[in-house]
Amino acid sequence: MTPLAERLPEFPWDRLAPFAEIARSHTDGVIDLSIGTPVDPVPDLIQAALVQGANAPGYPLTAGTMDLRAAVVAWAARTLGAAVPLSGVLPTIGSKELVSLLPTLLGLSRGDVVAIPEIAYPTYDVGAQIAGCTVLASDSIADWERAGAALVWLNSPSNPSGRVLGADQLATIVDWARAHDVIVASDECYFELGWSVQPVSILDPAVCGDSLAGVLAVHSLSKRSNLAGYRTGFVLGDPGLVQPLLEARKHIGLMVPAPIQAAAIAALGDDSHVRAQRERYQVRRDLLWTALASAGFAIEHSDAGLYLWATRGESCWDSLRWLADHGILAAPGEFYGASGNQHVRVALTATDERIAAAVRRLQPA
Ligand SMILES: Cc1ncc(COP(=O)(O)O)c(C=O)c1O
Repeated sequence: MTPLAERLPEFPWDRLAPFAEIARSHTDGVIDLSIGTPVDPVPDLIQAALVQGANAPGYPLTAGTMDLRAAVVAWAARTLGAAVPLSGVLPTIGSKELVSLLPTLLGLSRGDVVAIPEIAYPTYDVGAQIAGCTVLASDSIADWERAGAALVWLNSPSNPSGRVLGADQLATIVDWARAHDVIVASDECYFELGWSVQPVSILDPAVCGDSLAGVLAVHSLSKRSNLAGYRTGFVLGDPGLVQPLLEARKHIGLMVPAPIQAAAIAALGDDSHVRAQRERYQVRRDLLWTALASAGFAIEHSDAGLYLWATRGESCWDSLRWLADHGILAAPGEFYGASGNQHVRVALTATDERIAAAVRRLQPA
């Protein structure tokens, strides 16, 4: 018997430890921009809804309450421009849980190929490996077709690069996938954080027409509503795919706690806190972008999402060391795929005070 953990990729964050130690020794303290974890408060209306939902002695429904599903449907119509029926919505315990289990829950197994972006959030790979599938890291339809992919993961806006796929690119992928009986799952958890480009959902009629067949969109409240600590997201799209996911999840006990469902309803019904949070990130993004450029970094893509994808045309480890010497911790691009080995990922998720300190440290002497 081989424990599952031994089949999975090494958790790479340990490799950051020496850089963290250097950054932490800065006289004015470390500025940790290595992880995209929200630092601003949970909006009051969401905390209030959590408290209101606290008296929850019974088991919650795996499918979520009708109110939660209705809140997702209304949000999807308003925000994604997508018409999704209630039967095409399923709450998840954050989107990482769904990403890591989707191939398994879809019934994929050894011999099936899962395609993931060439530069990608590592959990797509993990999820494919948990199911015993073969992983193909490529952005090319020709490669997917040659390998006989059963599931294709998209991530737009991308973590780490902030690249956004346009409606035409998405439509080409959906058309191809339908013609070849391939499922497309699009991770859109940074959807509401578009800066220079407005993201388009895979569920937009301009992409998938008037049918949701074969497509799933994966969303999260972690970034949009500062709810990473609540663990709440959802998957939505083709009811023919969502309903079997629901049935499998009932057996496993993958239920979102009732107070969290109540909080998610409040979060989904309100856009004003999202606008306020976007404004905070916009200011931090502009400051960091200018400061990194003045320190010799070129910023690539980064059109949306919570990161700047920066390079000085050198090994990411050299850039990481230079930043650590200035008390700043970033993530090495290599964590996201071999072709990221000359980039660093710089998160916008630090307080205004820490961002201002980063800007000062990055000024040329
Ligand atoms: C692309 C992407 N997908 C999914 C997740 C998981 O988010 P959560 O589980 O908090 O919804 C993250 C987290 O950083 C991410 O970057």
